[in-house]
Amino acid sequence: MADGTPVSASRAVDEERLWNRLMELARCGALPGGGVNRQALTEPEVQARLLLARWAEELGLPVLVDEIGNFFVRRHGTDPSAAPVMTGSHIDTVPAGGRFDGSYGVLAGFEVLQALEASATSTRRPVEVAVWTNEEGARFAPGQMGSAAFVGARRLADILAMSDRDGVTVAQALEPILAATPRAARRPLGTPVAAFVEAHIEQGPALEAAGCTIGVVTGIQGRRSFLVDVQGEAAHGGTAPQSARRDALLAATAMIHDLERAMRDPQDRVRFTVGAFDVEPNAPLVVPARVRFTVDVRHPENAVMERLGDQVGDICLRHARGCVVSVTENARAPSISFSEEVVNTVESAASRLGLRHMRIFSLAGHDSRELFKVCPTGMIFVPCKAGVSHNEAESATAADLAAGARVLAEVVVELANR
Ligand code: GLV
Ligand code: MN
Ligand code: MN
Repeated sequence: MADGTPVSASRAVDEERLWNRLMELARCGALPGGGVNRQALTEPEVQARLLLARWAEELGLPVLVDEIGNFFVRRHGTDPSAAPVMTGSHIDTVPAGGRFDGSYGVLAGFEVLQALEASATSTRRPVEVAVWTNEEGARFAPGQMGSAAFVGARRLADILAMSDRDGVTVAQALEPILAATPRAARRPLGTPVAAFVEAHIEQGPALEAAGCTIGVVTGIQGRRSFLVDVQGEAAHGGTAPQSARRDALLAATAMIHDLERAMRDPQDRVRFTVGAFDVEPNAPLVVPARVRFTVDVRHPENAVMERLGDQVGDICLRHARGCVVSVTENARAPSISFSEEVVNTVESAASRLGLRHMRIFSLAGHDSRELFKVCPTGMIFVPCKAGVSHNEAESATAADLAAGARVLAEVVVELANR
């Protein structure tokens, strides 16, 4: 490596094998439109874990799981006492997601393990592929749940008690997930990690626009997210006088209009999303009794994000219209900058492999944000078509995906020998 020659593991990365695995994994929860609905801790995820466990077994590598269902495939190093270098990502998707968000990072990790085996490369540290439980937070919000529990940023008991829209708790939903891999050894949360590197599609258009194959990720933008609960009163839609109503839907829409106005940004750097919205009882002739909706606010500058987030509660309360309103902040993460050590390692690997690359700041959130709290962390981005993501049409080329896996192999070997 010192002489600028790529390590043999990266040369053993197989583009076709990686692509075929991605397509096979995408069958678990496949949608007719070409995308995937594999929300966290659902039956399609059980199928996906069985597939991953089979691939690990074919590689002759052990699987470990922890109490929140994080799933690890481990390849031993030569130093039994050394903490592992981890890579990986997530396999849960948003309700109508694509085939690459998360899955790519996991299967790029599998490809690296296979390439290490094929090239008989030994490393001082163990190398592990992690599959973090519930990154997306579509079913159980907020996401990055498994990685947050692993690093101790959230309490396991609080997470296990959370429930989805149907009242199913995380603890209940975890049972079939853990039962899917009965032979996996149990490991405690929070085992030491020497470094974490996550490969991911960019989920934005910058790499494609610049003609770059590799994004050397420098950090992740911050986020504040809220649950707004508007409790009104059910009434007959034909008879209840307008003046006497406590209409939760009219209150909620007034809140959202005002929030949108407050978040307007001439520079177009603020990201403001009301992504989930539930109205009860959701019947044509009943004045809406209750609305719950989410608010997600992001900005790369922490001071701006803090200021915007601080307005959410006041704006919502201003439009209560007689309803009882509660605003709960359920996620708050500052913008972070990855360790220069990992960023430089990714950058030099991309150079060594002759790949066009650029430094890039991640606007999307990732499990890396949690791992960053406990070890040197970095990410590798590859382009996705037109920056489309969280959409069934999400697309990436086999060649770019393989290039990212080659960079990952170089980086993992280098970090695992430190
Ligand atoms: C997840 O996709 C996020 O951006 O937080
Ligand atoms: Mn993702
Ligand atoms: Mn995602």
